[in-house]
Amino acid sequence: MTDAKYQSGFGNEFATEALPGTLPAGRNSPQRVAHGLYAEQLTGTAFTAPRAVNRRSWLYRIRPAAVHEPFEPLAHATLHNDFGQVPPTPNPLRWGPRPLPGGRFDFIDGLFTMAGNGSAAAQDGVGIHLYGANADMDGRFFYDADGELLIVPQQGRLRIATELGVLDIEPQQIAVIPRGVRFRVELPDGTSRGYVCENFGAFLRLPELGPIGSNGLANARDFETPVAAYEDVEGDFELVAKFQGQLWRARIGHSPLDVVAWHGNYAPYRYDLHRFNTIGSISHDHPDPSIFTVLTSPSDTPGTANMDFAIFGPRWLVAEDTFRPPWYHRNIASEFMGLIHGEYDAKQAGDEHDGFVPGGSSLHNCMTGHGPDAASFAKASASDTSRPQHIVDTMAFMFETRAVLHPTRQAMEAPQRQADYYRCWQDLEKHFKAP
Ligand SMILES: [Fe+2]
Repeated sequence: MTDAKYQSGFGNEFATEALPGTLPAGRNSPQRVAHGLYAEQLTGTAFTAPRAVNRRSWLYRIRPAAVHEPFEPLAHATLHNDFGQVPPTPNPLRWGPRPLPGGRFDFIDGLFTMAGNGSAAAQDGVGIHLYGANADMDGRFFYDADGELLIVPQQGRLRIATELGVLDIEPQQIAVIPRGVRFRVELPDGTSRGYVCENFGAFLRLPELGPIGSNGLANARDFETPVAAYEDVEGDFELVAKFQGQLWRARIGHSPLDVVAWHGNYAPYRYDLHRFNTIGSISHDHPDPSIFTVLTSPSDTPGTANMDFAIFGPRWLVAEDTFRPPWYHRNIASEFMGLIHGEYDAKQAGDEHDGFVPGGSSLHNCMTGHGPDAASFAKASASDTSRPQHIVDTMAFMFETRAVLHPTRQAMEAPQRQADYYRCWQDLEKHFKAP
């Protein structure tokens, strides 16, 4: 059940006010807004985008977004969108978890770019980052003009205070912050780490359901958008922008989280991955992994996503006479995976040096062969498929992209990279015997 701090639905025309009587009736920009506020429109799609995918919100705020000093470049050692640093490799790649940083790192400081494709300039592709933070953003606010941010915490809760309200999330929940929305991240547990997909392409949305019908996968009513909440605070603060792959900073004399009321359908949201209605075979074989899609960013080619966000959570496996883990495969799509919780059923857990463990990552690029390791193959080949199998302790996810993902130099050189990853398949023996 949605609590009073949230509004339920996906892409709805929401209307919310923290002070009664703020939202103007019957018009968006009245000559004078209630309580002496300013009206400002935030538009996330082309003005003339079809109605079903048109996104904009009207914000009624204490000061317009233009009130800040000029931006200056801000250096960042580990966050960038330069995806041409090293030649992309066809080798399968895997990393152990990146340790939480020493010193003081807030959510922005702690971003570490792993891979990406496309560019913010072309409004196509993704940047894939890890984050590790041990400090609240203190007097500091951020927005990303390059893409919307899909935030996947793996350890530690996040409190994301945005212009349009507050999102509280914990591991196995996600948050999506639309392009341009300003926010501050706080850490209720003192530390947090996880994954961030920066989507330069079309905004994430629910996939079409085709023959599945009107229910299933992620249901629209389980997405939660915050109600309006504002800060009326002045001080010597910093506004950080990500613009065309670089960070910029400007002094700002007040909190930009000063939206007293808003209405529209361009807004941040959260989603609890436990609510995903996982669908699979009840006879034999597997559907393609697209059946696990939570959200998709379409490209200009119908049916071919810029990126998909898919999850592999708790579920029953009942297919008879079927190899139940994901089979061996190669795709035109490229797959960046992370593990939020537990064990993934196609890989033995191992440890951070030679396994796929929570906080770790893997990358299987276009046409790179992969699938269960030798131990998982042996186990699944011998299992009794007349009985159902309950997979309970797991939550893995995938950022799947149309274009090849280019790992960054720092990802390739990271001490967490498991150079021996390829060995997990080398024990797969030849069983073939010619008759
Ligand atoms: Fe795969």
